[in-house]
Amino acid sequence: MPLDIYAEDILSHYEHPHNKLRLKDFDASFSDENPLCGDTITIYIKVSNMKVSDISFGGDGCSISQSTASMLTDYVKGMLLEDVEKIDYDKIKELLGINLGPARMNCAMLPLKALHGAVKAYKNSNKATEK
Ligand code: FES
Repeated sequence: MPLDIYAEDILSHYEHPHNKLRLKDFDASFSDENPLCGDTITIYIKVSNMKVSDISFGGDGCSISQSTASMLTDYVKGMLLEDVEKIDYDKIKELLGINLGPARMNCAMLPLKALHGAVKAYKNSNKATEK
């Protein structure tokens, strides 16, 4: 996609975020903060057969953090937890499709840090052994 299409996509996710709510029924959640600005994102996950069967997010932040949370939650729906754990900086860059400076990449990484925290919280909970 040309760069401006990526930028439009980011804007669209910011204006109409997907999965921005608190799941009524979730197995684990985790909040993380961008230390540079204090913005926080919380990820809620529902797990079935070690896959993300549902996911949502909450919190406030800039357009990059919010649109990345929207894209990332779409991306991992149905994914095995072990694959979610492998998502890294490069995958986030690929999802966004544009090059960001280091400060903005911190914003983009915030939802992933919260997601990885939620997966870890799930694995450390009793629920992980019940399913
Ligand atoms: Fe706070 Fe981007 S400025 S997350």
